[in-house]
Amino acid sequence: MTARQLTFAANWKMNHGPAEARAFAEKFLALTPAAEGRRLWFFPAAVSIAALADALKGRSDVTIGAQNVHWEPKGAFTGGISIPMVTEVGARLTLVGHSERRHLFGETDEQVGRKTKAALAAGITPLVCVGETLAERDGGRTEQVIVRQLGAVLAALQSPDWERVVMAYEPVWAIGTGKNATPDDAAQIHELIRMELGRKGVPHRVPILYGGSVSSANVASLLSRPQLDGVLVGGASLNPEGWAEVVDRGSKAKVRPSGGFDLIEG
Ligand code: 13P
Repeated sequence: MTARQLTFAANWKMNHGPAEARAFAEKFLALTPAAEGRRLWFFPAAVSIAALADALKGRSDVTIGAQNVHWEPKGAFTGGISIPMVTEVGARLTLVGHSERRHLFGETDEQVGRKTKAALAAGITPLVCVGETLAERDGGRTEQVIVRQLGAVLAALQSPDWERVVMAYEPVWAIGTGKNATPDDAAQIHELIRMELGRKGVPHRVPILYGGSVSSANVASLLSRPQLDGVLVGGASLNPEGWAEVVDRGSKAKVRPSGGFDLIEG
């Protein structure tokens, strides 16, 4: 198995059209050289995928993804965007089951499973998001919710498929609130996800990113935990200087004295 990669994923949500995406890329690239063992993922709005893929095409450490896709390749789904469409314009990844899709747009666990399966079948990497709401956390139901969300994905996939899945733990109460999970809390849920996948027969150590109010101030302490393979960031990824700083500080927190990044091998 190849060495694990430290992953910095930027989810721009409904921000940055094509012109802004290009301007971002120009500034960010000048500030952030490629580093061995580190990958940089960008999830722009669908209309900006082509522009960003083009602006970043010289960098093999950078990959572009969609924020959402339909599970069907085509058809009567007004407003929908298919995996072949985003692939055609340069996406090689897709977010699946982001909490904003689940909670604002009513996406179900079952749809998350279908999208994950469709992404894998089309040869792109799904970054599957799970996480509990504040009410679920306060009600002591975090574990139950995560296990339920994982269950729908497990039901849709075969165990070898998991070699190509990346997950993100994004507690809903931490998204855009400035209230991040503590490194210990995040590490504990990452362990829970891995235990549950292991219990269900997944033989691989699936990479798991943490998301929810990650910033240049907390990225180093979060990534100091070996359970975290990277971060998925909204607000703090919107500005090229700020995002370059998050990537730089986060990378330094995981750098090995011998070179490369300190990640557990799969
Ligand atoms: P914030 O980093 O703005 O909290 O958003 C997190 C997120 O939802 C990334 O997908």
